[in-house]
Formats: sequence, structure tokens, C-alpha cells
Amino acid sequence: MLRLLVFATFISLGHFADHDTFKNCSRVNFCNTLRDRQPLDKYAVDASTLVIDDNGNVTVTLKAKEGSDLQLELLALVDRTFRLRIKEVDSTRYELKDVLVSEPQLAHIDSVMQQDNYVTIQVGETTAQIFYDPFIVNFYLVQVHQVVIEGSSLTFDKSLDQAFAFNVKFPSALQLYGLHEHADSLALQNTGTNGTDPYRLRNLDVAGYELDSPMSLYGAVPVLYGWGTYSHAGVFLHNAAEQWYDITNGKWETQANIMVESGMFDLFVMIGPSPDDLVHRYLGLTGTFRLPQLWTLGYHQSRWSYMSQEDVKDVVANFTTNNFPLDVIWLDVDYTDGKKYFTWDPKTYSDPVEMQKNISAAYKRLVAIIDPHIKVEKGYNVYDGALEKGYFVKRSNGSVFEGDCWPGLSSYVDFLNPDARQYYGSFYSYDNFPSSTPVLAGIWNDMNEPSVFDNSIEKTLPGDALHFGDVAHRDIHNIYGLLHTMSTHQGLLNRDNGTNRPFILTRSHFAGTQRYSAIWTGDNTADWGYLSVSYDSCLDANLLGLVFCGADVGGFSGNPDTELLQRWYQAGAWLPFYRAHSSEGTERREPYLFDSGVQDVIRSAIQLRYKHLPVWYTLFYEHERNRDPVIRPLFYHYSYELETFSLRNHLLVGRDILVRAVAEPGVETVTVHFPGGQYEHWMSLDGTEVYEGTTDVDIPVDIKSIPVYYRVGSVIVRKDTLRLSTDEMINDGYTIYANLDRRNQSSGTVYLDDFTSYNYANNKQYNYLRIDVDDVNVSLTKIDEDSNPDGFDFIIDEVVVHRIVQEPQNGKPGRYEKQIYRTDANGQLLKKLKFKYDEPIYINLGL
Ligand SMILES: *[C@@H]1O[C@H](CO)[C@@H](O)[C@H](O)[C@H]1NC(C)=O
Ligand SMILES: *[C@@H]1O[C@H](CO)[C@@H](O)[C@H](O)[C@H]1NC(C)=O
Ligand SMILES: *[C@@H]1O[C@H](CO)[C@@H](O)[C@H](O)[C@H]1NC(C)=O
Ligand SMILES: *[C@@H]1O[C@H](CO)[C@@H](O)[C@H](O)[C@H]1NC(C)=O
Ligand SMILES: *[C@@H]1O[C@H](CO)[C@@H](O)[C@H](O)[C@H]1NC(C)=O
Ligand SMILES: *[C@@H]1O[C@H](CO)[C@@H](O)[C@H](O)[C@H]1NC(C)=O
Ligand SMILES: *[C@@H]1O[C@H](CO)[C@@H](O)[C@H](O)[C@H]1NC(C)=O
Ligand SMILES: *[C@@H]1O[C@H](CO)[C@@H](O)[C@H](O)[C@H]1NC(C)=O
Ligand SMILES: *[C@@H]1O[C@H](CO)[C@@H](O)[C@H](O)[C@H]1NC(C)=O
Repeated sequence: MLRLLVFATFISLGHFADHDTFKNCSRVNFCNTLRDRQPLDKYAVDASTLVIDDNGNVTVTLKAKEGSDLQLELLALVDRTFRLRIKEVDSTRYELKDVLVSEPQLAHIDSVMQQDNYVTIQVGETTAQIFYDPFIVNFYLVQVHQVVIEGSSLTFDKSLDQAFAFNVKFPSALQLYGLHEHADSLALQNTGTNGTDPYRLRNLDVAGYELDSPMSLYGAVPVLYGWGTYSHAGVFLHNAAEQWYDITNGKWETQANIMVESGMFDLFVMIGPSPDDLVHRYLGLTGTFRLPQLWTLGYHQSRWSYMSQEDVKDVVANFTTNNFPLDVIWLDVDYTDGKKYFTWDPKTYSDPVEMQKNISAAYKRLVAIIDPHIKVEKGYNVYDGALEKGYFVKRSNGSVFEGDCWPGLSSYVDFLNPDARQYYGSFYSYDNFPSSTPVLAGIWNDMNEPSVFDNSIEKTLPGDALHFGDVAHRDIHNIYGLLHTMSTHQGLLNRDNGTNRPFILTRSHFAGTQRYSAIWTGDNTADWGYLSVSYDSCLDANLLGLVFCGADVGGFSGNPDTELLQRWYQAGAWLPFYRAHSSEGTERREPYLFDSGVQDVIRSAIQLRYKHLPVWYTLFYEHERNRDPVIRPLFYHYSYELETFSLRNHLLVGRDILVRAVAEPGVETVTVHFPGGQYEHWMSLDGTEVYEGTTDVDIPVDIKSIPVYYRVGSVIVRKDTLRLSTDEMINDGYTIYANLDRRNQSSGTVYLDDFTSYNYANNKQYNYLRIDVDDVNVSLTKIDEDSNPDGFDFIIDEVVVHRIVQEPQNGKPGRYEKQIYRTDANGQLLKKLKFKYDEPIYINLGL
């Protein structure tokens, strides 16, 4: 019934995925064949071939009871990680490059214990155990069983060319997460029962994608996290070919059945035990997102398309006159001359330089779209050069591939070729991209699954297309978008001599994309379910390092009613990337076009985002430094609370701000789950209520705001002076919100630097402070002794102290009071005090 209802919604909107074009498992031969295979002990370890070198490298032959033998390599890596590789003795499989941040470091093996039927390899507190016959690999942390791979599930079926399959079991887990990207709940659903397809990972341009679906979308991150209440372990399949995952969750049976089209069996096994440990291990392999420029964290306005330079300037001017903060205006494909990238339409964008000056005069920036397909047209320099140098993807017969995309007939840059990456990247330079200026501050890489308008090949390149070194497209399909952003990233770095941190938004992504780009959830729909799933999707991305994530505010396809639009602005303000975008053919919906009541709601949502920019900026810095996600599902910090495992519409910004999106129409209350037990308390941002942890409370809501809470004990640093862009806020002072706990204590951090360059990393030029506030003092302590905060003074306008005056009890909320301090003990204004932080500084609140 539920499914029928959902389906009916799609029909009424005219948006549903095309199931004739996009295949299910039964229409993909290797998936259909391997999915229902029966367990069969086909392999046994040949112990006589076992070689263990104490640098953490174990190799052994797996004797096939029928068919070909396999070679196993088990590497012990630092940080409680193992790498298991299995291949044919005479393997010709493609070995993936470009994904890992660096070659993983081998760990020293502490001890090896050989028995008749197994060998145990101990590295610190972790143990890998290989059983010989039947062949099984077990991974333990101390005595706790974490991950199992049973040989009986392992299939290398020659009749399916290079396809292989295996199961991974997580004996200590209750629920699996990961496998970005699907329009589905964060908690992976059980598949396989009642005809549900496995989750698919094959990057595809799925227009009108459906909710609650295991269908592929634009990105693929082949990571599974097995989450328990006390134990967390995961696997990362380092393989960019098409793959399918059948999922089973539940005590003693949490497992995945994994089917892969080609490439290597190359599996990283990562052992927590805590949630943050596990996420840190994965990011140790694939890297972190680097601190972005401050302006990228502001509000972005986009549309397919602003059709002329006048339109662009007009929108920017109207944001200003109507008092809406805005940092960036976006150009979709129509700014180009006939969809030729790195050009401008001579009629509608006749004076791009003047337009960029106009944008800059309002303290805004420009981002423009650049796709990977290149119009087939003699005389178009990007095309001619790539054709001549052999930088396009080829057909299996060796001729250059041509397919339809926005420009009509197009060829596709072969980003696997480092020279082609360099070539394409060079067009971002100011010389090669005529009329581009530094105001064009970021680039949007779209259609990079890549998208080819041909339904017979699932709208992408065929598997047998050929890349550099005669690599078949099927082996690298899922990293095409990653390689595209790698090229853009290098191009932007070169363009600005390495001074500015590049900003890129990409639709297609893979493990490791976080080193180059932000992501968004692609072409969503103006419907409530898509608002809700934007939280699931960006939380999933955040657990997988893709921290700079957002969804089109308002929904890309269709027209949101004003209630949905307001709710989306309110919820979207708490996702890391905050951009409104809408499809061709939809009604214009720039916020100043609505009546003043709606404008007020949207304006205050955007203003709340800007007030918290210091929180966002600090969290992005701390992500790069500590590898923690920027936004987090509640179970990241409260994994002992089973209620948090499948919670929807909730997120934590860092660890101290709890947000409950209102993703339901017409409601007067929403249920908020407060995590953390009786010692964790949460203060309402709008009211004066205090709630106790591990309670579900029905909170009244009106259209003006959504429920947001500060964790008691935290210090939240804001900039409360209202401005219209981040550039105009640079010299504003900060407001410290101290949320005192029962012991009258609170603490937090703040980070500031020049907001644009790499001097923070290269020369330690930044100011990173720990802030402690109690009932008497505000103390500021420099975190890194050797950092240089010159020029980055932390200027305090106000200290707002939130003090609990009535404890919550028996499910009834407590109450807090707010006191604002602008003076010190001597009655002097704190306002505009500047500090150097060579010594801890104490400010007496004069109580
Ligand atoms: C797979 O897709 C085909 C074509 O859309 C459909 O006929 C078939 O029923 C689907 N199979 C399953 C198991 O969903
Ligand atoms: C591990 O040992 C095998 C066999 O000696 C060797 O081929 C392989 O390159 C080694 N791997 C690493 C990462 O050292
Ligand atoms: C599968 O369908 C049957 C019959 O409709 C139902 O009883 C059962 O609960 C379903 N199982 C799952 C896991 O949804
Ligand atoms: C911007 O404001 C001007 C003046 O009020 C108005 O004429 C124009 O239509 C507005 N532009 C847009 C895109 O709403
Ligand atoms: C930018 O363009 C708008 C709209 O044409 C105009 O109103 C505004 O004065 C221009 N700003 C500058 C600084 O030229
Ligand atoms: C390769 O195949 C394409 C498409 O079928 C065809 O147009 C082209 O002529 C072929 N090229 C060669 C060299 O055979
Ligand atoms: C990069 O270096 C070139 C050559 O030294 C110089 O002309 C240009 O202004 C520099 N650009 C930036 C953004 O620093
Ligand atoms: C916290 O501060 C209040 C007000 O200053 C004071 O009455 C109370 O005793 C303090 N509590 C503790 C635990 O210090
Ligand atoms: C406040 O700071 C002063 C130092 O300036 C220190 O002597 C005092 O103990 C502090 N009070 C508290 C409650 O930490």
C-alpha cells in the first residue's frame, strides 16, 4: 500500500525513473547469475605455499577443487586495517589507481601462530585468522569477532568473464550503513526478500529518481560500515566496476552479498571499535576534504538557467535590495556558446567581464558549469586539440567514441590519461578561458557519470569503450567523475598559482572524491520525501568523507508550494552545502518573489545559516585535522542508543547542535529524539526549554522555524551581525554562546585564518582557540603553540550565557535563562576587545 501511494505521487508529478533504461539485477547477467548462487567449498588453502614476511605481507595459494587456483595476499596495515586481495594466478585484472590518498602503510606483525588447519596473525590488538579447509578469513579485535569472509561464498566464475562474488559477515553488528549513493534511508534496508533488488553501484544519470530505492544514482562509494552498540567494523571494496549488494541486518546475521562485474577483489577491512575510529580509518585510506574558502559556506543561488547577463545581475541586485544574504550566483549550461565549455554565448553573455565586475561589486562570486563531454566541431579548440592528441575515449574498435549530450554529438575526455587531465585542466586558466576573471571563483562539474543520451547503453559509456592503456571502461566506470574533478582541481590550482583553495561541485563521485570536490544529491524533486532523504543522503556522504554535501533547496524538478519551500530553506541551512536550484520549465522561485511573510521566513533561515558560519568553518577545519564528519547522524556519538539507528530527519552539526528537519506538511508538532541519557541536556534555540537525553518529545512547530538545540556544556561561536555576504562579515566581531552545564561549565573551539589560502597548512598561519566559559570566566587558550595568529584576531562582541534554572524532570522540559555580557568586571565594554593568544586569556564576567 505504501509503495502504491509513493508510486501515485510520482505519476502525478510526472517524475519516475525509467525502468526500461535503467536495469534491475535480473537484467544484468552477472548479477542475475551470481545472486542466488549456493554456498560451495571450492577452495582450500595450500599451506605449503604460505609466505609471511614480518612487514605485514602474507601470501598463499588457494587450491581450487575445480577450476583455477587463486592467489591470496593479506596485508596488515597500520590503524587496525587489513587489505585482502584475491586474484587468479595469471590475473589480467585491472588494478585501480587514483583512488587511495597514498600507498597504505604496512604494519609490523607481532606474532604468527600456525596450527594444522589455520594460521593466526596478530597485529596489536587485532587478529586475522585464515582457516585452510574450508577456506575462511576471520578478523578480530581482542576477542571480539568483527568480520568474516567465507570461502564457500567466494565465486570466480570464468563463464562470466571477470565477474566475482563473495559475502562479508559482521558478527558484532546490528545494522549496515554506507554504499553511497541511493535515495533511501541512511540505514541500509534488507534486500532480497519479496523481490527487492540489491543496492546497485554504477554511476548513472537517473532523471526523476525514485525514493526508497536501491537503484544506482550518480555516485558510488563501495564502503559498508557494520554498526553495533559497542563494536564497529567496516569494509571498503577498492574497485570501480559495477557492483550489487544484497543486505541482511540483524543480530548474528548482519551481512552483505557482493557481486562485482570486473576488476580486482581488493578489500580493506577496517576495525573500529568506536564509530569515530572506524570513520577515521576509512579516511586514512582515501583522504579528507580540505578546508574550503569561507564564501563557499554561504548561500548559493542557481537555476537552469539564468539566460542572460542581465538576468544574472538583476537577480543579484534583487537579493541585495530585498536584504537576502547571498554569496554565489550560478551559471548552468546556457551561458556557453552552443554548449561548448570554456566559451560564452556571444548574444546573451556578450560582456562577461562587466557582469563579473557587477557581481563582485555586490561582494558576490560566480560559479559556472563545465562538463566532460566536448562538442564534436572542427575549429573548437578544446575539441581539435584533444582529437589530435588522442585524449578522447575510444570505441572498442579504436575509433573515437561519439555520443549525444547537451551540445549534440560529443566526445568524452579520457581522464584516465594524466596528460588528458592536464590538457583539460589547462583550459581553466584565465588565458585559455576567455573573459574569465577571479570572480568566477568555482566550477560545477556535471554530467560526469558520464552521461550519454542513449537509453540502449543506460545513458553512459559502453563497458567495452577504451581508455588510456587500453583499459576497458567497465573497469573504471565509477571513477570517471572522480578523474574529471581531479583534472579540474589541478586546473584551478594552476590557474591561481596554488594560492586559492579550489571550489568544485561534482555530481558523479567515488571514494576519494572528497580530496577534490563538494557533492550534491543531483536532480531531486520538489516533494516532501526528497527533503527528508536529503538528510539521509548527506549524512551517509559525511560518514564516507564526502562532507561538503547538499541538496537542491526547493527541489530541482517540479514546483514546491510555499510551505515546502520554506521548510526546505530551514532544513537546508543545516546541510554543509546550501544551494537553491531549479529545473528548466519550473516557475521562478528566487526568495524575493514571494509575499513578505514567506520572504521573512526564508530570510531568517538564511540569516541563521550566516550567524553559524564560524561553527561551519571551524568544523570543516576540524574535519581536515581530525577526520570527523561535519554533520553526523545521532548514532555517531550515541551508538549505544538503538533508537538512533534508523532515525530520520535528525542530524547533529558537529557534536553540539541538534537539528530536526520538518519534512512533513501541515504539522503542528514533530517528534524530536534527544540523545544521550539523563546527563545530556539540550537547550532550545527558539525558546527557553531544556530537554533531557534519551527522550522523544512532541515539539510544537509553526512555519517560522524548525527545532534546533544546543548541547548543554557546549560553547557555540557565532557572528550575529547581519550582512549580505561573507566578505562583508570579515571584520565583524564574534558572539560566544555559553551553554552552562550542571557544574556551570562549557567549552568549545573556534578557528579563523585568512579564509582563502593554504597559509594555514603551509605556514601555520591561523588562530585556533579552545574556549572555556564557567560562571566567572571566559578563557581562551591557543591550541597549537607553534601556530601564528597574527592578523586573525578573535574579536568578541558579546558573551551570551545560557544557565539552567530548572532541571528537566519526568519527561517535563526544564528552563534556562539567558544573560548577555558586554562588560567586564571593571565595567568596561568587552565589545571590540582584541586579544593575542600567546598566553591563555581570562575575561572576568564580573559576577
Ligand atoms: C526487472 O525489470 C524488467 C523490465 O523493467 C521487469 O519486467 C522485471 O519484472 C523486473 N524484475 C524484477 C525482479 O523486478
Ligand atoms: C607481498 O608479497 C608478495 C609475494 O612476495 C609480493 O608479490 C607482493 O608485491 C608483496 N606486496 C606488498 C604490498 O609488499
Ligand atoms: C514478504 O511478503 C510476505 C507476503 O506478503 C509478508 O508476509 C512478509 O512479511 C514480507 N517480508 C518482508 C521482509 O517484507
Ligand atoms: C528585480 O527587481 C526589479 C525592480 O523591483 C524588478 O523590475 C525585476 O523584475 C526583479 N527581477 C527579478 C528577476 O525578479
Ligand atoms: C549591477 O547591475 C544591476 C542590474 O543591472 C544594477 O542595478 C547595478 O547598479 C549594477 N551594479 C554596479 C556596481 O554596476
Ligand atoms: C567503429 O565502430 C563505429 C560504430 O559502430 C563505426 O562508426 C566506425 O566506423 C568503426 N571504426 C572502425 C575503425 O572500424
Ligand atoms: C600567477 O603568476 C603569474 C606569473 O607570475 C602572475 O602574472 C599572476 O598574477 C599570478 N596569479 C595569481 C592569482 O596569483
Ligand atoms: C552555578 O552557578 C550558580 C550561579 O552563579 C550558583 O548558584 C551555583 O552554585 C553554581 N553551581 C555549581 C555546581 O558551581
Ligand atoms: C577565573 O580566572 C582567574 C584568573 O584570572 C582565576 O584566578 C580564577 O580561579 C578563575 N575562576 C574560575 C572559577 O575558574
